[in-house]
Amino acid sequence: MLVFSLLSFVYLSATALAATYSQSDSYRGKDFLSGFTHWDIADPTHGRVNYVGQNEALAQNLTFTSGDTLIIRTDDKTVLDPSGPGRNSVRLYSNKKYKNHVTVWNIRHMPEGCGTWPAVWESGESWPDEGEIDILEGVNDKGLNRASLHTTSGCTMPASRTMTGTSVGDNCDVAATGNGGCGVSSNNAKSYGPAFNKAGGGFYAMERSDAGVKIWFWRRSSCKIPSDVLSGATQIDTDKWSTPFAAFPSDSCDMGSHFGPHSIIINLTLCGDWGAAAFNSDGCPGDCITYVDQNPGAFGNAYFDVAWLKIYE
Ligand SMILES: *[C@@H]1O[C@H](CO)[C@@H](O)[C@H](O)[C@H]1NC(C)=O
Ligand SMILES: *[C@@H]1O[C@H](CO)[C@@H](O)[C@H](O)[C@H]1NC(C)=O
Repeated sequence: MLVFSLLSFVYLSATALAATYSQSDSYRGKDFLSGFTHWDIADPTHGRVNYVGQNEALAQNLTFTSGDTLIIRTDDKTVLDPSGPGRNSVRLYSNKKYKNHVTVWNIRHMPEGCGTWPAVWESGESWPDEGEIDILEGVNDKGLNRASLHTTSGCTMPASRTMTGTSVGDNCDVAATGNGGCGVSSNNAKSYGPAFNKAGGGFYAMERSDAGVKIWFWRRSSCKIPSDVLSGATQIDTDKWSTPFAAFPSDSCDMGSHFGPHSIIINLTLCGDWGAAAFNSDGCPGDCITYVDQNPGAFGNAYFDVAWLKIYE
């Protein structure tokens, strides 16, 4: 009897500790119009964009939904007046906020082209006190993807971590790193930009728990995509997934004091602090702002095509 109770105790504890989550929200096609808000105020990173509201975005077909498709893009038709606002573009943020959770993104295409700075990320209302988690981000078509945390002071990463990517800095404090935070570069050539698009995109997933943050990427044709990710299952178990490309363990970073409730954000800026600074070294011609103003046709592939987003808690 004692053995039996002990065994059931061990069994129950193991079940409770397994990293299983249930789906709490699912966004597909027009769900993004009711579950997300179009942000239409100025870009804090000084991008050459003019973020438009939902009615304008739909009228100009910068935001388009149908069935299992969400497209958001920048305008690719207008030559801009250098003294006027930037190129029309879209930035969406979720109306709901999430603490510990998992997101799974099924993305077919991401913005490409010189001058583009797309991002899939999460942030709180008060920055950097509530932290920022960048899942998919880069500029000027230059992969590999880089995932990062941005926090207040007192959040650092151990030198050695169980992940397939490469650390580009261990201190997540924005004040100590000139806003850079702690980044991890993916080692998957298809994780970003034109190579990601040629492969038909793939799946990004992020787990935020008291134990830290983990981020995974699987290209669309990978045979390693977990079946619960591929199917957008109602229950998932992140313990059964492969090694993440980016791991940010909480050993020297208390999650509760560095991360608040987060909105999920997807945005597409042009130039901006990072994109403009790297424009020439990334092999793009001339000056980023002039390029954006004068070459609408260069932005025909500057769009996200998202099949769905699932949230688990
Ligand atoms: C767009 O995403 C980048 C990357 O995380 C972020 O730093 C920037 O503030 C975002 N721009 C806007 C307007 O949201
Ligand atoms: C709007 O964009 C979608 C997706 O790119 C496209 O299929 C559709 O034809 C466009 N509609 C118009 C009116 O241009």
